[in-house]
Amino acid sequence: MKMLDRYAVIGNPVRHSRSPRIHQLFAAQFGSEVDYQAVQLEQRELASWVLDFFRDSGKGLNVTVPFKQQAYDLAEVRSERAQRAGAVNTLLTGKDGRLYGDTTDGVGLLRDLQRQGCSPEGRSVLLLGAGGAARSVLGPLVDSRPNRLAIANRTVAKAAELAELMADSGVIQVFSYEQLAAQSTGWDLVINATSASLGQQVPDLPGKLWTDHGVAYDMVYGSEPTAFLRFAADQGVVSCIDGLGMLVEQAAESFFLWRGQRPVVEPVIARLRQEMHVP
Ligand code: ATR
Repeated sequence: MKMLDRYAVIGNPVRHSRSPRIHQLFAAQFGSEVDYQAVQLEQRELASWVLDFFRDSGKGLNVTVPFKQQAYDLAEVRSERAQRAGAVNTLLTGKDGRLYGDTTDGVGLLRDLQRQGCSPEGRSVLLLGAGGAARSVLGPLVDSRPNRLAIANRTVAKAAELAELMADSGVIQVFSYEQLAAQSTGWDLVINATSASLGQQVPDLPGKLWTDHGVAYDMVYGSEPTAFLRFAADQGVVSCIDGLGMLVEQAAESFFLWRGQRPVVEPVIARLRQEMHVP
């Protein structure tokens, strides 16, 4: 029997991960099959599990919440974008046999924004949140040359810390949610990188946040619009985008790192939406 190349996504919880399905659909585009599992781990077993996986000729791992920082520590070689993000979502062994860590989250977000016609370039961009998810996309957002970039967070000191980390890359303003209310101009693009949507909550935002043709983007996705996207729609925002495209784009970049092949994302996104019964 033919042995399939082995991959997995590791996290906790990870049972509902769409990654096995996404990579199966990617592989099918090239007439192949992969063995891609979702594996729930405890923190204490992470390091030995990862090392055993690659020792047993596993080809690649995706890493999700809450292990992205731990995976970063575990990697022997880290890409520049992983260093900037302080996190790793993709692991593989290099030609030299060392464990190589990269992150594809930032490029995933940027590609999705570009594909949907709302590239940050020349626009005013507000990033909500200052945790791991926000940090992983901030570097690529700075690089995409928005005309104004700000971070707002419930705990404003964390937003200030994050802006400070990227200080060499460009100017990033920092606001509390209350301070956002006093801004005289709106934002062209507001990206929700908080985990509030996971609990069906919305950060405590002022009503008038967007410019007339502003875009709301939630890095979270679900079979129903997230609480943040419902809030945006209530404010009259027409372009409300969830994180499914970003998920598939980051997966495509991981697939490319592992297999050197670039899948086409659109049919995979469409298929997942159909399977999730997303309107
Ligand atoms: P992640 O890796 O998903 O970013 P995290 O590092 O725990 O997870 O960060 C969670 C982010 O969501 C933080 O910015 C957090 O705000 P605080 O720094 O003030 O805690 C934000 N967050 C979570 N729940 C929230 C809520 N109900 N309202 C507003 N912000 C929330």
